Amino acid sequence: MNKNSRNKKGQLVINGGEKVIQKPFERYQSIGKEEVEAAKSVIESGVLSKFLGCWHEDFYGGPKVREFEELCKDYFDVKHAITVNSWTSGLIAAVGAIGIEPGDEVIVSPWTMCASATAILHWNAIPVFADIETETFCLDPESVRANITSNTKAIMAVDIGGHSANMTKLNAIAEEYSLKIISDTAQAPGALYKGKYAGTLADVGGYSLNYHKHIHTGEGGILVTNDDDIAERLRLIRNHAEAVVGDKGVEDISNMIGHNFRLGEIECAIGIEQLKKMKGFIDSRQNAAKRLSKGLSSLKGIRLPITQDDCTHVYYIYKMILDIKTLGVSKERIFEALIAEGVEGLSTKYTNLHLLPMYQNKIAYGKKGFPWNSDICKREVDYSKGICPVAEELNDYSYLGFLMCLHKLDNEEVDLLIEAFHKVWDNMEDLK
Ligand SMILES: Cc1ncc(COP(=O)(O)O)c(C=O)c1O
Repeated sequence: MNKNSRNKKGQLVINGGEKVIQKPFERYQSIGKEEVEAAKSVIESGVLSKFLGCWHEDFYGGPKVREFEELCKDYFDVKHAITVNSWTSGLIAAVGAIGIEPGDEVIVSPWTMCASATAILHWNAIPVFADIETETFCLDPESVRANITSNTKAIMAVDIGGHSANMTKLNAIAEEYSLKIISDTAQAPGALYKGKYAGTLADVGGYSLNYHKHIHTGEGGILVTNDDDIAERLRLIRNHAEAVVGDKGVEDISNMIGHNFRLGEIECAIGIEQLKKMKGFIDSRQNAAKRLSKGLSSLKGIRLPITQDDCTHVYYIYKMILDIKTLGVSKERIFEALIAEGVEGLSTKYTNLHLLPMYQNKIAYGKKGFPWNSDICKREVDYSKGICPVAEELNDYSYLGFLMCLHKLDNEEVDLLIEAFHKVWDNMEDLK
């Protein structure tokens, strides 16, 4: 079609046409009257937290903390669920609880939120970045294997965007090399992997309860484990371990530097109500993703999200890959055109953590480059561009993400998204 013969509706906004999406979509809102009532009754009780940071019956927290933990334990089908005041705190507790020593190496994905790796640095251990798979954007087991050294002690598997990492292969590697595994399932609560919940297939795993997640308590996190010893170490690190171990009679006091990682009673009361609604939220996200994928399936040069066999995807992010050669247009141009049509929540980048200034300059604690530039770091760890070619290529050229977590996304809104994508694809020549 000739540019001049197109009507205004078919013409891209960046060329003077009309927007497909005229008004912003409704925000994702999981908090209802049940949460309001639950929070109110805690406030009225006056007991907003009952934790005590010493060996006492209140060491494990108040009634809402315990009730929420019991419910999480049943929901995720694990022996222990332990609440924390953020998932960042949860990751720090997890790395400490599995017994990481200063200078130990922990293999982690570069395609994740920064806390997955800083939790490792927190214990003066060394993050080593392995590459990711294009199907799931999670750790590539072969790259993990290639990065194992005699210093490697654990793997941090991140279930990014709502889909589990390949836990069968990662657990097999962990077993072969006697490594521990942590699952950072911040973005994938409720996702299934071979009939089990993502996050529960590691030595320790868990979920974020921050504002953007499927269910939330404002800030917060839930640790899950089937290991009694790790569970107790997690509870100690959560609550001033160093002041508790003596009276509790704990023999292994390594990493028993405790913190205040305690989640409050109000948050746990809200969490109890949120957990009851979680399946409904996930179903609705999955239905929206299914409708979106159906509507976009005829577009050329775009790979839509993949759900692997025996898995479910909970779509925190709808991850697409553009075939730039076929399209003949950069992803930034496509992004710009889609944004102009009113599509919100798109991004052309996620993260390549190894390229952050902290890793590039090896400056973490103080100015002298600790822990890398010290005796505890046993070798020169490489963070240069090129170590994770798949993650780098995706970020630089072909990744396009849609943050499904931002909006409610009813059928009408999904159909508008589909229309916007089709309009941009129909006019791809104009973007060249
Ligand atoms: C993959 C991942 N890990 C860790 C975190 C940290 O969680 P929180 O914000 O609850 O501390 C997030 C938060 O978005 C995340 O997405």
